[in-house]
Amino acid sequence: MKLRKCEVIAEDIKMERPRFCVLPPLPYNYGDLKPYISEEQLRVHYEKYHQVYVNEANAILKKLYDARKEDLDVDMKAMLKELSFNLGGHILHTLFWENLNPPNRKEEKPGGILGDMIERHFGSLERFRKEFSKTAITVEGSGWAALTICKQTENLLIMQIEKNNMNVYPGLRIIMALDVFEHAYYIDYRNDRAKFVEAFWKIVNWEIVNKRLEALLK
Ligand SMILES: [Fe+2]
Repeated sequence: MKLRKCEVIAEDIKMERPRFCVLPPLPYNYGDLKPYISEEQLRVHYEKYHQVYVNEANAILKKLYDARKEDLDVDMKAMLKELSFNLGGHILHTLFWENLNPPNRKEEKPGGILGDMIERHFGSLERFRKEFSKTAITVEGSGWAALTICKQTENLLIMQIEKNNMNVYPGLRIIMALDVFEHAYYIDYRNDRAKFVEAFWKIVNWEIVNKRLEALLK
């Protein structure tokens, strides 16, 4: 009996199963970011929204794997657009949780190389905060404000990301992220994004942002 094409592929090619994304544990408890992010807001954001990005990204990875295994045609354009959105959402949320910390526990100003570079590239911390806040507030629809560094020029750059995946500088690693999807603040601030952005500065974990920067400059 003649083998069908997919059976030949299954026999001849040892395809690895996809490695799935995992929801990372939060580095603090749900109530720890109060009064700037409430327990309910953080719980819903993390358990509902971040988890959905993980689930959706994994579902697409599985679909791609199944299609390859069976040698089936898929709509690559639609599939990759969806993967980019959901995987982007997962990666950005992971960065975002890490670059927050409970208020009044750590220093509230950036130190180390980060502090120096902010002074050199923006003139002052106030100017940097103003530019980053404006970036976050003016995101059209849903998206992110992020801080990154161009390794070629060693310039600190602010990035305004629409949705989870548009206007990204290719290849540049993000060292600080701020989620301004409405799902990040609607329970605590209703539609007042600017108020949430102001609150972000009270819980930003500068130590982590500095560590990320140091690691990239090595
Ligand atoms: Fe979010």
